[in-house]
Amino acid sequence: MREYSIAAIPGDGIGSEVIAAGLEVLRALAAADGGFGLRIEHFPWSSAYYQEHGHYIPPDGLARLKAFDAIFFGAVGAREVPDHVSLWGLRLPIAQGFDQYANVRPARVLPGVKSPLADGKDIDWVIIRENSEGEYAGNGGRAHRGLPIEVGTETAVFTRAGVERIHRFAFNLARGRPRRHLTLVTKSNAQRFGMVMWDEIFYEVARDFPDVSTDRELVDAVTTRMVLKPATLDVVVATNLHADILSDLAAALSGSLGIAPTANLNPERSFPSMFEPIHGSAFDITGKGIANPIATFWTAAMMLEHLGEPAASARLMKAIESVTAARVFTPDLGGSATTADVTRAVLAALGRMA
Ligand code: IPM
Ligand code: MG
Repeated sequence: MREYSIAAIPGDGIGSEVIAAGLEVLRALAAADGGFGLRIEHFPWSSAYYQEHGHYIPPDGLARLKAFDAIFFGAVGAREVPDHVSLWGLRLPIAQGFDQYANVRPARVLPGVKSPLADGKDIDWVIIRENSEGEYAGNGGRAHRGLPIEVGTETAVFTRAGVERIHRFAFNLARGRPRRHLTLVTKSNAQRFGMVMWDEIFYEVARDFPDVSTDRELVDAVTTRMVLKPATLDVVVATNLHADILSDLAAALSGSLGIAPTANLNPERSFPSMFEPIHGSAFDITGKGIANPIATFWTAAMMLEHLGEPAASARLMKAIESVTAARVFTPDLGGSATTADVTRAVLAALGRMA
């Protein structure tokens, strides 16, 4: 039997609620499949853990994580810790330390879900976010703190190697989709160095993918295209910050942030990849049992695909879609179901398929 080791890091807020739901569904899938098993280990790293221990990840933490096949991550962010501290304490050290440079964010309106757009059914996108450098390179500083002459810098860093590999990844992914279309998003009219280099390298890489059609949009203009002409987009490749913003818009246009999944991939598989719902810790609803677990289920399906279990992944997606079609919705989608209700419904749908 194939066995996969999964490091579960529920983290903060609703992270533990949705990861628990996700693991329940994953265990049921493995049991019904019979062909693969999961060995799950929990890591308690969170903002509460940080307040107690002074760090999110212990000194040997990354070395321990490295042995796993995948990381199943909930959320990080808490009222008690500044956001930039929690982000740089937990999520970024893993994503950057494990060179998970390709962040994949699919967006689609699931059956039964209502998009705010009239033609929301046309949304079928994958946003590829550069996940290792750019605006998140951590390159900056502050001087003259507190004085009237205080200065703060935040310099985006783009390397040829970093840009080329994300473009190559995006072209390969676009090649595997029916429409084979890739849109390059930058801001190379106003930013004439790193962004112009992004554009140039894109067209260099494009020569190796004559079967993928391309076009190009500025990041401000692509927001209007997402809203007004959703059918014209397929795969989008953009920088760390641009794609961060675009993927929230994509999630809202798909009906809710509560359904949007993401994969932080190290495509070379030198390190484990990390799978997480996009939504974050949502402390306004933490502990109420109403967090939407669909984003985490979809995330689990992406993880199964990555692990090499495409059949189980497809079964899970089908179960998710049958539950959204039946409108078993948590409050973010306008319903009154709880996390447990949606989880039970997905488990029942999987049971019917078995
Ligand atoms: C995301 C999130 C994070 C990011 C936050 C929590 C720092 O918005 O994964 O999209 O900006 O990377
Ligand atoms: Mg974001």
